[in-house]
Amino acid sequence: MEADRTVQQHFLCRSDDLNVGGTGWRFEVQKDGEKQPAFVVRSTAGVSAFLNRCGHRDLELDWSPGEFFDLDARLLICATHGALYDPQTGACKGGPCNGVGLHPLSVTEEGGLVYLTDENYSVVSNEIA
Ligand code: FES
Repeated sequence: MEADRTVQQHFLCRSDDLNVGGTGWRFEVQKDGEKQPAFVVRSTAGVSAFLNRCGHRDLELDWSPGEFFDLDARLLICATHGALYDPQTGACKGGPCNGVGLHPLSVTEEGGLVYLTDENYSVVSNEIA
């Protein structure tokens, strides 16, 4: 018999807070007692979330809090040296990330709200500046 596993949902933000290619929502997660910055954005493929850590160096991506998209609002860009990432999968799409993508987090959108549903992480704060 298969175990009944209920995925816990951690509230992040309202759906209205995320526009396609617009400002992302920063939050903080915890795993094994270690806190890490993270963010959620909306692209044409829907909402997606990642740890806020560049594949090039251990630095946050946003050039100004919440600004993750490049000028075309198609790819995510790291402010430090310009690494580019697919906003749906976090895959490296160019620049110094050299094939190292972002670490994705599971999210879902339900009833006008966005939740983290990643069983490996819990939300410490759902709004960090
Ligand atoms: S630290 Fe992100 S591109 Fe270098």
